Amino acid sequence: MKATITTTAHYVPEKVLTNIEIAKLVDTSDEWIRSRTGIAQRHIVAENEATSDMCTEVAKQLLEKRDLSPNDIDIIIVGTVTPDHFTPSTAAIIQDNIGAANAWGFDLSAACSGFIFGLETGAKFIESGTYQHIMVIGADTMTSILDFTDRETCVLFGDGAGGVILEPSQSGGGILDSILHTDGSGGTSLWVPAGGSRHPATIDTINEHSHYIKQDGKRVFKFAVKGMADVTQQILKNNNLTGEKIKLFIPHQANKRIIDATAKRCGISNDKVLINIEWYGNTTAGTIPIGLSEAVEKGELIDGDFLLLASFGAGFTWGSILIKWESHL
Ligand code: UT7
Repeated sequence: MKATITTTAHYVPEKVLTNIEIAKLVDTSDEWIRSRTGIAQRHIVAENEATSDMCTEVAKQLLEKRDLSPNDIDIIIVGTVTPDHFTPSTAAIIQDNIGAANAWGFDLSAACSGFIFGLETGAKFIESGTYQHIMVIGADTMTSILDFTDRETCVLFGDGAGGVILEPSQSGGGILDSILHTDGSGGTSLWVPAGGSRHPATIDTINEHSHYIKQDGKRVFKFAVKGMADVTQQILKNNNLTGEKIKLFIPHQANKRIIDATAKRCGISNDKVLINIEWYGNTTAGTIPIGLSEAVEKGELIDGDFLLLASFGAGFTWGSILIKWESHL
């Protein structure tokens, strides 16, 4: 039995922060950000808005679109590195917010690969035959860990959430294959040094800004292109496919130059590559499900299309998932 995506939804906060506004905070320019990353603007949460609020919006949309009762949901999996709290989990907050009385759930920490890792996890639960409806949501409030005095990171990220409902496939399509990787030796290339159990928050960690995200951009860039391209080429090869056979490629949106280089190496033409980084920036676990939800809304996928997802993120974590699309409208 295979797992299939029956429903998609996304939510981004209303408030927009443009490059021009960021250039008033740090020494940067609209031109530099656009040309080096492809980003023009990002959405940012309102005061008092957090990751679970964005996820709850996504969860409500998913239920409505699929005409399900909250009681039908068996598991809620949330990929995030910016949960509302260390505990309770974001999944628990969503479960309560939507009244999913029969669901259990958990958060999964894999940074930009959070949605891909969550999708693989959810798919295995469906394939076990024990569960019928699983919500997989990828969401991050990156502005909660951004240092708006550090131009090397604060221009890159935004806030947003997207998600899907996974169900057993009726016709043998759905999630066909996946390849996932973790390489912890890249840990300190993209990380939040303090605020966890190694260096709990103190006045000093706050003064040093070490509870904010830090990145060695150049190193991550190199690993991201190689990691995403290698894993994408491998999954194509394992399934006797070429880039030409793919209808839509949705890569993680960290930098347009990374996306272009990856697609080129994999022989996937530009018209098949989803790029929306211009409008949202890097929403970490949110990028792939937001892109998927937008593509479905625009009717870009029909029955039998091959959809390829690929991610690369902190950890390092990376992976690719191949899907034979089944329409459930
Ligand atoms: O989602 C998780 C995975 N994350 C990623 O995949 C991100 C990977 N890395 C990147 O996307 C890119 O490395 C960045 C966009 C972060 C940086 O682009 P780059 O082309 O690698 O720039 P750079 O770090 O080599 O910096 C070039 C110059 C430097 O100045 P000098 O040393 O040449 O004088 C930087 O100080 O650009 C400067 N710079 C900036 N200038 C204006 C760095 N950030 C900025 C900025 N505005 N925001």
